[in-house]
Amino acid sequence: MANLIIQPARFLQGELVLPGDKSISHRAFLLGALCHGPTRILHCLAADDVNRSRSAVEALGVPVRREGEAWVVEGKGIGVFRAPSGRLDMGNSGTTTRLLLGILAGCPFETTLFGDASLSNRPMRRVTEPLQKMGAVIRGEKGADRLPLIIRGGGLKGIRHTLAVPSAQVKSALLLAGLSAEGPTTVVEPVPTRDHTERMLSFLGTRVARRGEEVTVEPGSKMQGREIEIPGDFSSAAFFLVAAAIVPGSSVTIRRVGLNPTRTGLLDLLRRMGARVQVIPRPGASWEPVGDVKVESAPLRAVTVEPSLIPGIIDELPILMVAASQANGVSRMEGVGELRVKETDRIRSMVAGLSAMGAGIRSEGDTMIVEGPRRLKGAAVDSFGDHRTAMALAVAALTAEGITTVRESEWVSISFPEFEEKLRSIQH
Ligand code: S3P
Repeated sequence: MANLIIQPARFLQGELVLPGDKSISHRAFLLGALCHGPTRILHCLAADDVNRSRSAVEALGVPVRREGEAWVVEGKGIGVFRAPSGRLDMGNSGTTTRLLLGILAGCPFETTLFGDASLSNRPMRRVTEPLQKMGAVIRGEKGADRLPLIIRGGGLKGIRHTLAVPSAQVKSALLLAGLSAEGPTTVVEPVPTRDHTERMLSFLGTRVARRGEEVTVEPGSKMQGREIEIPGDFSSAAFFLVAAAIVPGSSVTIRRVGLNPTRTGLLDLLRRMGARVQVIPRPGASWEPVGDVKVESAPLRAVTVEPSLIPGIIDELPILMVAASQANGVSRMEGVGELRVKETDRIRSMVAGLSAMGAGIRSEGDTMIVEGPRRLKGAAVDSFGDHRTAMALAVAALTAEGITTVRESEWVSISFPEFEEKLRSIQH
């Protein structure tokens, strides 16, 4: 087991280009497999989670090869997968599991999916139930709510489904199942979630209609493989952006990062907190907006985050708690219950880690309350097997007095294997 040892920073300074977006990298493999002809994926994230999507596609008989820096997926179209020869290992990846269930719902053979201890504890009924309504046969413990799951697809009918919990993974699974269903499939999302699937589906040639809260796909379009250049991961950038905001005297620029508005809620909140944030969009980016973001340190004030903003910062909540610990006043993040069912219970892991460092942080029901600013102290803290908890605590450690050890930091490789190297390159 690895430890990440973090010394306090005097200041952070520099420019970074970050690995490709995790959500988009997953989708490039999974949707590329549904296309006719080659999909060339550039600037793909090389991390454990995305490898699960790549291996899953290969196990379904879709050739994937490396060409220089690119990955090439040789799709043969929807509905021509072959049954895998064994069970498919989803590792820690909720995105692979839920999106793949949507694809497998259209496949007339049986597949078994299993995952690691954390993933096997995460709720799946939110996706299996609507897929069963469409006609997929899915079996698993607790009423198909937990991995391992056995799915037999085929013979689907389109449905209209309203998301009970805002979830891009569930929305995506249903849209992907809808590609091989009879009739249209509509997902209603009262609170918007990340729209990478919709964008990539239309980029690859599927008609996706968005009307207010509703997204509809119809079967029958032929998807054509294309070149997909993946922007830098905003959720990885978030750690350095907050670090630059809270360590006095810092200035950090992240180049060519994804700026999809369903993902950048953190920038609006940092601005509301008084951070100095500059965004320079890069013209010419088509299907996913891309640009450069610069953050300079400034004294921060507390912020209140309403529930409707949560999906736009769902993966940034741990690092936002770190920002709030250094902001003046009482910050409140309302409606954060979904954090309990991420790679770990992120309410528990962040309260444990930041409290050990001396922060004023607690939860009341589904609300996080952080009182700042508090001078943090170096401590030995746990990742709880969660990549984002590990990285958020490492950033908190930059502002602490004394050295911090983040235990079981190897989990960082789920989404950002180069995290430590990039941090060291801007830390002074
Ligand atoms: C993701 C959606 C979100 C997010 C996860 C990636 C995606 O999960 O937390 O890291 O790629 O669609 P939910 O759909 O469970 O909110």
